[in-house]
Amino acid sequence: MKPSEAQSTYNEIFSLLEKHHSWMRDTVNLIASENVHSPAVREAMQVDFSDRYAEGWPGERVYAGTKYIDEVEILGNELTKTLFRADFADVRPISGVLANLSILTAFTEPGDRMMCLSIPTGGHISSARHRLWGTAGRVRGLKIQYFKYDEYELNIDVDATIRKIERLKKKGKHIDFYMFGASVFPFPHPITEIAEVAKGYGSYVNHDAAHVAGLVAANIFQDPLREGANSLTFSTHKTLPGPQGGCIVAHEEFADRIKRGVFPALHSNHHLHHVAAKAVAMAEMIAFGKEYSKQIIKNAQALGSALMEEGFKVLAEHKGFTKSHVLLIEVANSPLQNGRAVEEKLEEANIIINRNLLPWDKRFGRDYIRPGGIRLGTSEVTRLGMKEEEMSQIAEFMRKIVFDQKSPKLVAKEVAQFRKKFQKVHYAFDTARDAYDYVKLR
Ligand SMILES: Cc1ncc(COP(=O)(O)O)c(C=O)c1O
Repeated sequence: MKPSEAQSTYNEIFSLLEKHHSWMRDTVNLIASENVHSPAVREAMQVDFSDRYAEGWPGERVYAGTKYIDEVEILGNELTKTLFRADFADVRPISGVLANLSILTAFTEPGDRMMCLSIPTGGHISSARHRLWGTAGRVRGLKIQYFKYDEYELNIDVDATIRKIERLKKKGKHIDFYMFGASVFPFPHPITEIAEVAKGYGSYVNHDAAHVAGLVAANIFQDPLREGANSLTFSTHKTLPGPQGGCIVAHEEFADRIKRGVFPALHSNHHLHHVAAKAVAMAEMIAFGKEYSKQIIKNAQALGSALMEEGFKVLAEHKGFTKSHVLLIEVANSPLQNGRAVEEKLEEANIIINRNLLPWDKRFGRDYIRPGGIRLGTSEVTRLGMKEEEMSQIAEFMRKIVFDQKSPKLVAKEVAQFRKKFQKVHYAFDTARDAYDYVKLR
């Protein structure tokens, strides 16, 4: 590109950003890993902290000029400790993956063995094998074993897993590290029984609450630090509606190693404006998190029921579909035949969801490109003030696309009309601005 073309490209970038904002106002977002943060969180992300360095821990910085940054980071850690009922918190990790890698760096050595969920059963790529370019396998050099999984219950099979641990132990294959948590996480993981066996063998237990951190904070899903986990890693932008980022909380005895796993091992500077925004989000969650999280779960269960009524095959019906924000739906037998086709058609209709592998997809020759399922989450629609009644309306829109094969363009208009009443962020101290306002500073 010639220098003379830079200005028009620069203008084009801003025009695309505005288009994105305007589109978001018209869509129903059911991506389980996303959320919309409050105007206050957005304000905190725009401060001068974003131009500064503050390597290290407050009071032990490698840089000068950090006196206010230190105070904000200390408040962020204190608020996080309160929220998660934890002795120790570190708000520095810049993502959920780096929070996980910081913990793995602190408590494993290359060549160690880790047990976690496989990707088709809900596991995340940060826990995957070397062959799959997973962070644990490829970056940390861990050997990966999987928890045994009950496909009907959509959860870890405790007895079969414990038998597997004992079998491996007899063969000299000790598991050094256990990673609970998942990207498809409808039901609390059975940490207690497995952690007891793990700790009996001197292993480390972490819970990756990337998805469910908000629900854990509200203490209405599971309480991993009391159920046997040594630490909890999570993203700060899913059910916990803060800025994009990561975080770790733990029992005090693990604090020193975790601090070093975060810095200097994995981070140099740690995105200080995000620290400010995380602190604001934690305060909002202390004030509003319980009410918000309860509604997220009620909405997920209501959406599950409404989708069943509309003809969708929602998994785990016998358990009320979910106890979190997530639903898993099999679409392989629907007229659109696979998750990708459903994802694409719904996007045309202003409904944003994502396709997802089902635990049995591999056996049917399906892969991530055209899996048999879709995954839905209710964090963002709940944040916009929607309740059970609106879940029925969303299910009806989805039926029109997936089963009635209605024109996505026409449904998109109906969705945009429906969205008009839901533009403010709820469960926040300040709701002055609309959720998707484009804020111009130039
Ligand atoms: C279980 C799990 N762990 C870790 C992550 C990674 O989080 P981040 O995107 O914040 O790096 C995700 C992301 O969706 C996840 O689902």
